Amino acid sequence: MKNSKIIMLISAATIAFSTVSLPAHADEKPYTVTNDNHLDADSYKGFKLYRNWCARCHGTYGQGMVGPDLAESLKFISKDDFFSTVGNGKSGTIGSMPAWKKNKKVMAGRDQMYAYLKARSDGAIGVVKPKKAK
Ligand code: HEC
Repeated sequence: MKNSKIIMLISAATIAFSTVSLPAHADEKPYTVTNDNHLDADSYKGFKLYRNWCARCHGTYGQGMVGPDLAESLKFISKDDFFSTVGNGKSGTIGSMPAWKKNKKVMAGRDQMYAYLKARSDGAIGVVKPKKAK
């Protein structure tokens, strides 16, 4: 086989691979809000985890306290940033955020907490007590 043919095959394979590995629904919202404050099961679980572990610093509904307003933060930080900040903590100009990597419940619930906070960030749910949709 000629070199050029091999290169063509490799690039075809690369294109095929990158097409397949693109996130299928990158823009899809990770939450569902109905009746103003009813969350899907995962986002609701996210709220409960958030309330247990994060609310004392970031406010009951993420609106900020000693820690920053996460509804605001999530407009700017990526999901990857969120995951790594929660895992590794962050010390900056505002203060010190503990690392959660040793807390299995928090680490396992990062997706769900992100979903809840994203709903807050998008304004889909306000500074109100969420309920679980039936
Ligand atoms: C002891 C207080 C405290 C607790 C508890 C806490 N945080 Fe934080 N968090 C902070 C502080 C303070 C900062 C700001 C650090 C800085 O940049 O100065 C922060 C920053 C963050 C950021 C980065 C925001 C940005 O704009 O970059 C995220 C995301 C975050 N916290 C999520 C969480 C989540 C999720 C939890 C619960 C699992 C949590 N935090 C629990 C104090 C806390």
